[in-house]
Amino acid sequence: MNRRVMVKVPASTANLGPGFDALGMALSLYAWIEMAIPQDGQTVINLHGDGLNGIPVDKSNLIFKVAQLVFDRAGVSVPELAIDMYIEIPLTRGLGSSASAIIGGLVAANALIGSPLSQDELFQLSTELEGHPDNVGASLFGGIVVASWDGNRAEKVTINPPADLEVLVAIPAFELATEKARHALPTQVPMKDAVFNLASSSLLVAALASGNLDLIPHAMRDRLHQPYRAALVPGMAEILERATEHGALGVALSGAGPTLLTLVKRSSTRKADLEVFLVDTLKGHGIKAETMWLEPCSQGPELTIVREPSGQSFMERVKGEVRA
Ligand code: HSE
Repeated sequence: MNRRVMVKVPASTANLGPGFDALGMALSLYAWIEMAIPQDGQTVINLHGDGLNGIPVDKSNLIFKVAQLVFDRAGVSVPELAIDMYIEIPLTRGLGSSASAIIGGLVAANALIGSPLSQDELFQLSTELEGHPDNVGASLFGGIVVASWDGNRAEKVTINPPADLEVLVAIPAFELATEKARHALPTQVPMKDAVFNLASSSLLVAALASGNLDLIPHAMRDRLHQPYRAALVPGMAEILERATEHGALGVALSGAGPTLLTLVKRSSTRKADLEVFLVDTLKGHGIKAETMWLEPCSQGPELTIVREPSGQSFMERVKGEVRA
C-alpha cells in the first residue's frame, strides 16, 4: 500500500471527425488528482480552482466512486479516502474532462493499493463507465488511440502523434452535455454515409500512422455525427467547411462538442489567420470563444508516489506545471 499518490492525466479529443467513438488523441491540458488514506479516517474531497462548483464532495463524487470500483475488483476494502483535484481542462466542452477524471481516479486508486489491476483492466473498466473507448483510451495510453468496443471488450492500438502536428482549439463559452449531443444523432444512417466514414476514418488512421499529413484534408470528413450536431454549435458548419482555406490541415468537432479542433502543420505560416477565422466565425454567430494552441500528448498518466511528510501542499505540487 502507498499512503499518498498523485496522478497527472492528459485531456483528450474524440472522433477526430470520421472516427466516431473509435479515434481519440491525448492533448497537453491536464487534470491532477491526489489520493491518500485520510489521517483521521474520514473521507475528505477538496476541489481546487474555479469551475468545479456543483461537483459533489461526498461519497457520490465520481473519483471516489471509480476508486471504489478498483478496490472492489482487487478485493480490498478502503472505505475512506482523501482526494484532491485540480483540473485545467475546461468542463463539458468536448475535451474529455470526465474521462480524465475517471482515468485519474482509477490509476490513483490502483496505485494506492500497489497496482494489482493491469492497464488493460483499467481500460475495460473505464470504457464501461464512459460507454465508449475513445476519450478514456487516449487519456490512459496517451498518443493517438484507435479503439473498438463491442459492449464487452475494448481493444486498441496507439499511434505516436506525428512530430509536425499541432492542435488549435476554439472553445465556445457555453457547455454542451455529451448526452444532449448524442441525442441529436439519428438511429439509422444511409449506407453511402457509413461507407464514406469508413473510408475517411481508415484513410485518417493510415495518414497519421505514416506521417502523411497531406492526406488529412481528404480524410478528416464526417457524415455520421457532425452534420446532426451542427445545429447545437452555431458557426460550426461554416468552420468545418472553410477552416482548411485558412491553413488548417483538418477540422472537426472535438468529441461531442462544442469545442472545434483543427490540426495544423507546425511549420504553417497561417496560424494567426486560422485563429482569427475561428474566433470571428463563432462571434459572427453570437458565440464567444477562447482559442488554445495545444500539443498532442504522447504520454498517458504520470504517477508520483508522494513521500510523507512532503512539506508541500497539493497546489504547491501542482504549481509550476499549470498553463500560464
Ligand atoms: N465519441 C463520443 C461522442 C465522445 O462523440 O459522443 C464524447 O465525448
